[in-house]
Amino acid sequence: MQNCYFSKSGPSSQPTVSASLEQAARRLSKTLASPRRESELILSHCLGCPLTSLFTEPARILEPAVQSRFDAFVTRRLAGEPLSYLTGHRGFWSLDFRVSPDTLIPRPETEALIRAALHLIPDDHTGRLLDLGTGCGTLAITLAHERPGLEVWATDQSLRALDLARTNACALGTPSIVFCSGDWFEALPQGIDFDWMVCNPPYLAEHDPALDQDGIRYEPRASLVAGETGLEALFRIIEEAPRRLRQSGWLIVEHAHDQAEAIAHRFDANGWRNVAAYRDIGGQAQGTRAAW
Ligand SMILES: C[S@@+](CC[C@H](N)C(=O)[O-])C[C@H]1O[C@@H](n2cnc3c(N)ncnc32)[C@H](O)[C@@H]1O
Repeated sequence: MQNCYFSKSGPSSQPTVSASLEQAARRLSKTLASPRRESELILSHCLGCPLTSLFTEPARILEPAVQSRFDAFVTRRLAGEPLSYLTGHRGFWSLDFRVSPDTLIPRPETEALIRAALHLIPDDHTGRLLDLGTGCGTLAITLAHERPGLEVWATDQSLRALDLARTNACALGTPSIVFCSGDWFEALPQGIDFDWMVCNPPYLAEHDPALDQDGIRYEPRASLVAGETGLEALFRIIEEAPRRLRQSGWLIVEHAHDQAEAIAHRFDANGWRNVAAYRDIGGQAQGTRAAW
């Protein structure tokens, strides 16, 4: 099997796939809800093999180098490091994104923003779309895939995040996305305006207890924290977006459930139209869209 570090045989003291998985799952069960599954994902990453190889060859012996890499990764996971930072990738929508500790790990709830955008953007639309604070390229690349007629731009203040987003755009077949670095709209050249804007900005408050949760403390603070109240970035984007939006253009932003009222009020106060929240299955607001 190519690129897959199993030994065909070895001294009986050497660990097999199934024994290593069992031991790792026992260690991880102290802190994780799915210890067996996470052990499998880590081991298949260490081996460079598909998950199915673990199930078809449970008695195979692991090379000592693989076993010690696996043990080290399990220890890091046990300490709370997110699985996606260990494996270096994360699925979002139908795509597999490379991620690193320089970027937020894409969240499943952000797929609701993609659904809200696709609901508004016609299939054959050829306008211009902006993703503000793109991170590893999540929204820009997914929407470029789903609406190939769009001209897509993306910004971030983090140069390292932008490097990764560019790598993802090339690897995922959307190399024509234009990436710009800088502070929100200041990243853009003069004279460029948009039909659509999407943004999942930082929206936690400085002392939000969520910042201490498992995994989150490993993510870049600048991708999570907006300021004292958590609303600072959202308010700034709502206020500054009209200068860059074409007539009847749309802005869609993700925010926390309990920010919906303040966000709707800010949109209204700044003269936006058709302000409406998009909601999860339980009816909680996950974001808001508005037309200019
Ligand atoms: C919550 S993350 C969203 C990442 C990605 N769009 C996603 O949905 O997975 C927010 C992103 O905004 C970027 N950001 C924070 N402050 C910014 C600013 N002032 N100007 C531009 N980007 C900023 C961060 O670097 C981070 O990549």
